[in-house]
Amino acid sequence: MTDHDPFGRAVRDHYRGERTTPLLDRDGERTREHAVEKWYFGDHDEDAWRDAWLEGPLLDMGAGAGRDTLYYQERFETVAIEVSERLVDVMRDRGVEDARLADMFSLRESFDRDRFRSVHAIGTQVGLAGSMSSVREFLADLAVVTTPDATAVLDNYAPELAATADAFGYREDAAPGLAYRVYHCEYEGDVGRTLLFRLFSVDRLREATVGTPWTVAAARYGDVQWRAALEKR
Ligand SMILES: C[S@@+](CC[C@H](N)C(=O)[O-])C[C@H]1O[C@@H](n2cnc3c(N)ncnc32)[C@H](O)[C@@H]1O
Repeated sequence: MTDHDPFGRAVRDHYRGERTTPLLDRDGERTREHAVEKWYFGDHDEDAWRDAWLEGPLLDMGAGAGRDTLYYQERFETVAIEVSERLVDVMRDRGVEDARLADMFSLRESFDRDRFRSVHAIGTQVGLAGSMSSVREFLADLAVVTTPDATAVLDNYAPELAATADAFGYREDAAPGLAYRVYHCEYEGDVGRTLLFRLFSVDRLREATVGTPWTVAAARYGDVQWRAALEKR
């Protein structure tokens, strides 16, 4: 999992002040430089709307370098999970009290039933579910590790917004409300696996909650992304 981890290596090197080359995202001929400082080491962005949905114990899924976990753990118990061992090390070093190596798409392997009152995945990593059936499975697993009154805040790129077609790695889908993003990371010649993100609209998220205990309670749009709050029915 952590072999060929150019992303984790670059973020860790950046944290240590040892990064001398860019972290690149590549999609065929197109290349984008990853804004490591801005995207992972900025402050927790003050979004009162998001924070109002969250209570402890909180699970921060795909916590990166821990910028949100560091904020929430001052307020209530917060557990951060990451797939990159290097990022888990970075988070611990930055003061994250409970950072663990765990896969957000295998939550039942890592956590007991009813463990969390709320969950948070900001950074569009939910798209890495890859397909709508996997999103549905993810929501069902999420329901098991959370309390009956739980809430969840998720985000993703919004294929229902025209501007999203310009997002890096964007691939359209003929079906309304669906698209993909595809790219891989490269750092110091280390080429990561291809990342396939399923992009889905808020309406598609609503469809995916059918048959799970979740309902979409509220949603908000940015320029090319949405944030949604889910609660149990
Ligand atoms: C765009 S970053 C967002 C980081 C952080 N939430 C933030 O906003 O600063 C997405 C993160 O999700 C992590 N990630 C990707 N797949 C994951 C998985 N299956 N389980 C846990 N974390 C994952 C990546 O390693 C990466 O750090």
